[in-house]
Amino acid sequence: MSHNLLKGKKGIIFGALDEKSIAWKTAQRCVQEGAEIVLTNAPVALRMGTIRQLAEECNNAPVIPADVTSSEDIEGLFDQTLEHFGSGVDFILHSVGMSINVRKGIPYTENNYDFMHKAFDISSISLHRVLATAMKKDAINEWGSVVALTYIAAQRVFPDYNDMADAKALLESITRNFGYQYGIKKHVRVNTISQSPTQTTAGSGVKGFGDFISYADKMSPLGNATADQCADYTVTLFSDLTKMVTMQNLFHDGGFSFMGVSEAVINGMGEK
Ligand code: NAI
Repeated sequence: MSHNLLKGKKGIIFGALDEKSIAWKTAQRCVQEGAEIVLTNAPVALRMGTIRQLAEECNNAPVIPADVTSSEDIEGLFDQTLEHFGSGVDFILHSVGMSINVRKGIPYTENNYDFMHKAFDISSISLHRVLATAMKKDAINEWGSVVALTYIAAQRVFPDYNDMADAKALLESITRNFGYQYGIKKHVRVNTISQSPTQTTAGSGVKGFGDFISYADKMSPLGNATADQCADYTVTLFSDLTKMVTMQNLFHDGGFSFMGVSEAVINGMGEK
């Protein structure tokens, strides 16, 4: 059901790889709510994924390749987007993350530092690069909204989340610091949504993810939030209904973040 919450708004969606991607669902919801979008992903992901199908569904949205670790690519993305819309954008979704240490199952205490740098560059510093490039090109309109996706391992220890925990802590810090800078400059708001574990390509790379999803579900009074529900929440943050929300890390996790323990988890443990 559409409420036209994003009628007349224009935005960029990073990170739609396949139909499980949180960015994929968000692109669909934004268009349903009346937005016009540009889709972007790494060149290699565009070759492997099925983003063209999404683009068609989203009123033939342009698909612009950009590796988030390349300043040249991000500049090109904004140049082409500004030309396409003939104006700046009103919202940006940063839904990008990758760790080679996670992918290769390298334990946290033995992390490879080249891989760690790469994880930070792709998953965290990229948000700074996107915002700095946008600011330089004046590519985000007054009262625009930027959302990046994060996970509670930024605040609490989830050992198998590995160096992505540090990457997410950095992402949330950049959100606060750039949120201040873009707020005073152009009333642009910047927030992270801290999402429940969700079965996607990036999510499934984490060791023991299946068991972990069911643990989180049992711990959360409302259960795990789905990718579709995350898309709904993101739409509200792109809308004019949340204009004064900025520099926040917003938990979208069915209540998980404020739980100590639940009856469902205790009952599942059995007596010793
Ligand atoms: P996904 O695998 O569908 O999306 C990750 C995206 O990052 C892919 O589209 C991939 O192509 C893109 N990417 C990787 N390297 C890139 C590069 N160099 N340049 C441009 N794009 C690049 O998985 P998902 O789960 O939708 O992930 C989206 C975001 O949500 C990530 O930031 C992830 O950490 C976050 N998140 C995911 C959770 C989960 O359990 N799936 C939970 C909380 C947050």
